[in-house]
Amino acid sequence: MALHVYPAQRKGELASLFVDPSHENQGIGRKLVHFVEDKARELGLNELITLSTQAFNYFQSKAGFVEGTLDDLPPNRREKYDHSGRNSKVLVKKLNATGPTKRESAPSFTSTS
Ligand SMILES: CC(C)(COP(=O)(O)OP(=O)(O)OC[C@H]1O[C@@H](n2cnc3c(N)ncnc32)[C@H](O)[C@@H]1OP(=O)(O)O)[C@@H](O)C(=O)NCCC(=O)NCCS
Repeated sequence: MALHVYPAQRKGELASLFVDPSHENQGIGRKLVHFVEDKARELGLNELITLSTQAFNYFQSKAGFVEGTLDDLPPNRREKYDHSGRNSKVLVKKLNATGPTKRESAPSFTSTS
């Protein structure tokens, strides 16, 4: 599994997710996806993309991705896609800031005069 970073677009690409069939359905795929998401957040990225044929349904139903379009790909990645001859689908997941970097909303005050 790999995380390719496109800093100019603040996007990361989750690539080559694979779990050996003898270890399927034990939550390993989920853990790997979470690991990449956390890493991407740490790097300050806003969005993860992935290209998939076989695991399209997995990314949608189990990993919180939604179907995207080729326009979601960073320009240099798009070029590579166009030359690859593969017909993978694009999936996208927005990353929200979490934990200590997320600021509380300002408290509201009520006048008691
Ligand atoms: C898709 C894959 C990564 C899932 O990994 P995993 O460790 O088995 O998945 P998890 O244990 O996290 O999740 C299991 C759940 O996902 C479901 N699932 C597994 N593969 C699926 C698929 N291709 N489509 C839809 N759902 C799938 C299982 O039925 C199970 O559902 P349940 O929780 O309702 O019982 C793994 O099967 C795999 O490597 N497949 C072949 C390679 C591949 O397609 N890689 C992606 C290329 S980018």
